[in-house]
Amino acid sequence: MSNNNIKRKCRALMEEFILDNTQLLEINRRFLNELNRGLCKKTHDQADVKCFVTYVQDLPTGEEIGRYMALDLGGTNFRVLLVTLKAHHEADIESKTYAISQEIMTGPGVDLFDHIAECLAVFMKEQDLIDEHLHLGFTFSFPCKQVGLTKGYLIRWTKGFNCPGVENEDVVQLLREAIKRRGDINISVVAILNDTTGTLMSCAHRNKNCHIGTIIGTGCNACYLERVENVELFDSPPGKPYVIVNAEMGAFGESGALDFVRTEYDRIIDRNSMNPGKQIYEKMISGMYMGEIVRLVLLKAIEQKILLPKGGKQIKNLAKPESFETRFVSEIEADNEGEYTNCKKILTDFGFSKPTNEDCAEVRYICECVSQRAAHLVACSQATMINKIDEGHTTVGVDGTVYRLHPRFNEYMEEKMKELVNPNIGFNLMLSEDGSGRGAALVAATVTD
Ligand code: GLC
Repeated sequence: MSNNNIKRKCRALMEEFILDNTQLLEINRRFLNELNRGLCKKTHDQADVKCFVTYVQDLPTGEEIGRYMALDLGGTNFRVLLVTLKAHHEADIESKTYAISQEIMTGPGVDLFDHIAECLAVFMKEQDLIDEHLHLGFTFSFPCKQVGLTKGYLIRWTKGFNCPGVENEDVVQLLREAIKRRGDINISVVAILNDTTGTLMSCAHRNKNCHIGTIIGTGCNACYLERVENVELFDSPPGKPYVIVNAEMGAFGESGALDFVRTEYDRIIDRNSMNPGKQIYEKMISGMYMGEIVRLVLLKAIEQKILLPKGGKQIKNLAKPESFETRFVSEIEADNEGEYTNCKKILTDFGFSKPTNEDCAEVRYICECVSQRAAHLVACSQATMINKIDEGHTTVGVDGTVYRLHPRFNEYMEEKMKELVNPNIGFNLMLSEDGSGRGAALVAATVTD
């Protein structure tokens, strides 16, 4: 096939990934509708986007002080942190990452919480904190129905976790019990929070305009500051006009709102996942799935003889589910224009001998279409939230491995947001620094003050 022909065929294959503004504006409209359904008492139970109340109503002033422990479960890594808030918007953080094996991720809930408590104890011993009584903020990044700052019932596992015995249980209680079973540390769990809330709080610690917290990492979600009169399921104490709402927007699309833009690859990913039918928006965006989408498209392109030789060991390697990691997408797009150093290395590691520049150009194009679609889909929900908040200027705190590691995600997202946010509203994206740690400490600090 001639180069031009290859290019043409590859463009045609990827066409369905390119969403135009008419489609994106329709997604905006549907997303806003879902947000409102989540907030309203009458429709909450049926809504895809649940808009859970976080019970966090005070944003940090920057003058918080004190030492707090934090746990961060639900991202790429599990971490234990010691956070020292030092006023003047400053904080010191000591942290350690611990592995969570596949076995623990899908084994009994008790084992998961025992493991967490053990890591906490090991960390405290190492930091010489074993004799201290500290308050802890638990960043638990899964959908939870909270009934207070220290009570959160897990609605469902997401992102490959599936430990029996935790759904519908209060995870704070499970953590407290595991700590008690050990009996060697003196910790009070004073708050449970989502990673998006942590991100919002940590950015608001430095910038008071930050009213949205977004994660584009293993999963994808956002929270925002909503007026209490719009949150029908929340009975706010007097004098507190706002509350942070955890949208759990990864679930958007479960009732079919995204079917008009989903591709066959999205459907395969969903079918083969641990939670079919769930987290539809998240599966089109987040790091847990992005590499897998690219892998499926590559296989299709090879099958259609659009690129790379057919047959042989390399196809067997690529045919292995999850063999194409999301970080490869970032690495391929990080190659300088016209150079394919990372791309060639990745393809050669799969066993493709001597990939040509033409092949690499198409592989890169496929990656760009997939990551750009993800960024544009995120832009839709972000613009909707900014327009809904409707302030002169909103800062969006953002974190997550995809956002951090992908060389152009920020650019793709911001460009599209400029087109979707109402022209009279200003916005900026702010990279969060350790939201799950500093944010957890800040929430813990608002409780104990
Ligand atoms: C998943 C979780 C959500 C979390 C997000 C990012 O969507 O359900 O709670 O915020 O991943 O980690």
